[in-house]
Amino acid sequence: MEKFISANGISFGYHSVDEQDKLVTVLDGLNLSINKGEFVAILGHNGCGKSTLAKHFNAVLVPYKGDVIVDGMNTHDEEKIFDIRESVGMVFQNPDNQIVATVVEEDVAFGPENMGIESDEICRRVEQALKDVDMYEYREHAPHRLSGGQKQRVAIAGVLAMRPKCIVMDEPTAMLDPKGRREVMQTVKKMNREHGMTVVLITHYMDEAAQCDRVIVMDKGEVLLDGAPKEVFTHVEMLKNVGLDVPQTTELCFELSKAGVEIPLDILEVDECVDALSDILEKKGVKA
Ligand SMILES: Nc1ncnc2c1ncn2[C@@H]1O[C@H](COP(=O)(O)OP(=O)(O)O)[C@@H](O)[C@H]1O
Ligand SMILES: [Mg+2]
Repeated sequence: MEKFISANGISFGYHSVDEQDKLVTVLDGLNLSINKGEFVAILGHNGCGKSTLAKHFNAVLVPYKGDVIVDGMNTHDEEKIFDIRESVGMVFQNPDNQIVATVVEEDVAFGPENMGIESDEICRRVEQALKDVDMYEYREHAPHRLSGGQKQRVAIAGVLAMRPKCIVMDEPTAMLDPKGRREVMQTVKKMNREHGMTVVLITHYMDEAAQCDRVIVMDKGEVLLDGAPKEVFTHVEMLKNVGLDVPQTTELCFELSKAGVEIPLDILEVDECVDALSDILEKKGVKA
């Protein structure tokens, strides 16, 4: 598989507020790589450095030690910063902070306009991006009157219109209701599955992480776990120790297993859980 982003032993810290010459380490020799076309979730408790890491993926921050390579470009190379920013689009938590225009289609056009793209091409891109996020019929609406999920889809369209190869989303659903969250997840999954877009999703929702190809768990400035969701979520105690939950199905299987029930620990889907439970009941001669 071809690597798209790699962080090679990166360290980063912020200057302490009290003592300006003191650095408070946030990333501590962290290694990870993300492949082209992958859909990766990054999990970790509040303040563990997820947003700081995300900002390294498009050269908003650069490590004081180690390298971040994005599509073959080192973020330390100042001549490449523009290309790196074009390759990696960012979506943030609060859609209201990302909307700049008073009409949806103008908002989506803002990014490509700033890139100096000619107007016919902008029109084509805006149309395509709005169709991709299922917001084309709202193109002439005022963004501030849309629901949270719709606004976030417009923000995603604004990033898509710049045609990045990768989209990094920093808790994009944190401010949305369950319907908005579903809309955004569906949109992102479609971008990944149908357009081969590399997606990095920072989230604190376990059910969202469970839908990704791969889950990376951060703790103490390093990668603690990295693997397929089914594998990562079997480490129930380790996840709890770093202040994270596990999906409800995993939790149920974990508790049953502790109580002596023989049930696999790598179950994520509700249907799969129901099947496993009815198998167990059947073996015991109980009719489900
Ligand atoms: N601009 C900043 N200046 C100083 N400290 C910061 C800044 N941004 C984040 N931090 C600190 O760095 C740590 C990691 O923050 P962050 O990357 O936002 O974590 P997360 O996104 O996982 O919640 C936290 O302790 C936070 O207080
Ligand atoms: Mg954050």
